[in-house]
Amino acid sequence: MRFLTITTASIAAAAFMLTSPVTEAAGPLVIKFSHVVAENTPKGQMANKFKELVEQRLPGKVKVEVFPNTQLFDDDAVLSAMLLGDVQLAAPSLSKFDKYTSQLPVFDLPFLFKDMAAADRFQQSPAGQKLLMSMEKKGLIGLGYLHNGLKQLSANKPLKTPADAKGQKFRIQQSDVLAAQFEAVGAVPLKKAFSEVFTLLQTRAVDGQENTWSNIYSQKFHEVQSYITESNHGLIDYMVVTSASFWNGLPADIRGEVKKALDESIAHGNNVAMEKELGDRKKVADSGRTQIIQLTDAERAQWVEAMKPVWKKFEKDIGKELIEAAAAANTGS
Ligand code: LMR
Repeated sequence: MRFLTITTASIAAAAFMLTSPVTEAAGPLVIKFSHVVAENTPKGQMANKFKELVEQRLPGKVKVEVFPNTQLFDDDAVLSAMLLGDVQLAAPSLSKFDKYTSQLPVFDLPFLFKDMAAADRFQQSPAGQKLLMSMEKKGLIGLGYLHNGLKQLSANKPLKTPADAKGQKFRIQQSDVLAAQFEAVGAVPLKKAFSEVFTLLQTRAVDGQENTWSNIYSQKFHEVQSYITESNHGLIDYMVVTSASFWNGLPADIRGEVKKALDESIAHGNNVAMEKELGDRKKVADSGRTQIIQLTDAERAQWVEAMKPVWKKFEKDIGKELIEAAAAANTGS
């Protein structure tokens, strides 16, 4: 049986993949889907649903292999691996694409979306949909957005006002906007892979981090952080991406079925995200391992004010109109 995945073993094999149509006689096409989170998260559940639907609907034609928990690649390596053909699908957070586009960092601007409905409205708007193709020239195609949720700040000291974060070291994702966000409050940002975060926190190599309730709970960050400030100050959502050469090389009927299964899996993942935003927050609170801090309106206003200059700093790179379009989604219904 011949699997039509590209391996780094041979450039000839890669060339074959780009020029040969997939046929049933050749054996199933293998789609490797690599991600960094646990299976009991929105992305983990979405990836598993995708495998289930594709293999049910395209039996013997397409096989999906899901690699959770950074088993295959971390988010830094996955996009270059995708361009080499070593993996076909991934869904890095929107903070992980700044090597490929100056526009997607719009999603990292602090306090951009007041809630997940606003983030969704922007993603589904013409401007948001256009961003799916913003990396096409670099060989990557966005197939859809997937939700996770809003970020909370955790640390070993209570963070109530920006002054509390001064001098504290925070693990951040690979994003210059996120680095500027922490620098704006006098903190020290450190770009580190997701798989390293628990150990960094446990050993106190960093003081804190920012993440969603489902990532905090599934990675047990709350067990090694004494306080979580319910700041909802930013977004962790995902773009499901593939390589243009892989996607355009698929026979149209297979591509159509795969896309349909993907859209349905994303809808499933979005439902999981909604449940987990409340459910995992409750599990963290009920664990008694950490204290959740609620900000007063006045305290929250201080964080908004301190981080606002980040918008101006990246306005030229991201584009003023795009920032305005994203912010306008807060007023939609
Ligand atoms: C992180 O690195 O904190 C997140 O991007 C992980 C994820 O994929 O949710």
